[in-house]
Amino acid sequence: MKITFIGHAAIEIKTDKHSILIDPFITGNPVAQHKPEDFQPDAILLTHGHADHLGDAVPISQRTGAPIIAIFELATYCQSQGAKAVGMNIGGPSRFEFGTVQFTPAFHSSSHDGHYLGEPCGIVFTTLENKKIYHAGDTALFGDMALIGKLGLDVALLPIGSYYTMDPEAALEAVQLLKPRIVIPIHYNTLPAIHQDPGQFKAKVEAQTKTHVIILRPGEHCTI
Ligand code: NI
Ligand code: MN
Repeated sequence: MKITFIGHAAIEIKTDKHSILIDPFITGNPVAQHKPEDFQPDAILLTHGHADHLGDAVPISQRTGAPIIAIFELATYCQSQGAKAVGMNIGGPSRFEFGTVQFTPAFHSSSHDGHYLGEPCGIVFTTLENKKIYHAGDTALFGDMALIGKLGLDVALLPIGSYYTMDPEAALEAVQLLKPRIVIPIHYNTLPAIHQDPGQFKAKVEAQTKTHVIILRPGEHCTI
């Protein structure tokens, strides 16, 4: 499995047969090295409807036919904008031909252009090879991350930027609850308000937990 950090919270998960995009904010993303046309996803998963997560989801769905999978209100909105969409809710999991999708709670908000777009979410995606990836979306720290950790996570993508989400200290506590094998920090250094040092985060996490931290620069990938 190849995980590409497109930048901000945008991620591509690539397995032998499939490509999954999460929160594909590419156009207008000041750190992105990719173009939306670089991706041919089988599905697009969205954590919530803020512009820095919804991003290019609708045009990519229109170009490729890939469904947008999101919480019901956000999926309905994407459909109204001309995308193919599947509306789920917190709970699940649901099986698709490219893997399994489960939406988890997130402590945040979700709207776009004055539309309320349902609850914000995290996503647990399980590949057909049974690798589990948790994308926390935008969230504060919450105790029920311990329940998500019980699923047995290979990778957790955690925001560390502060201001809109957890800061590195809260993300360290999140790692203690989630107990993933690997953490990749996201949602930092895209804007001045969310400036953080991921190296310091890595040093603390690796000193205090058994989790390994992989820092990816925008455009970089790792193979897990
Ligand atoms: Ni947000
Ligand atoms: Mn955000």
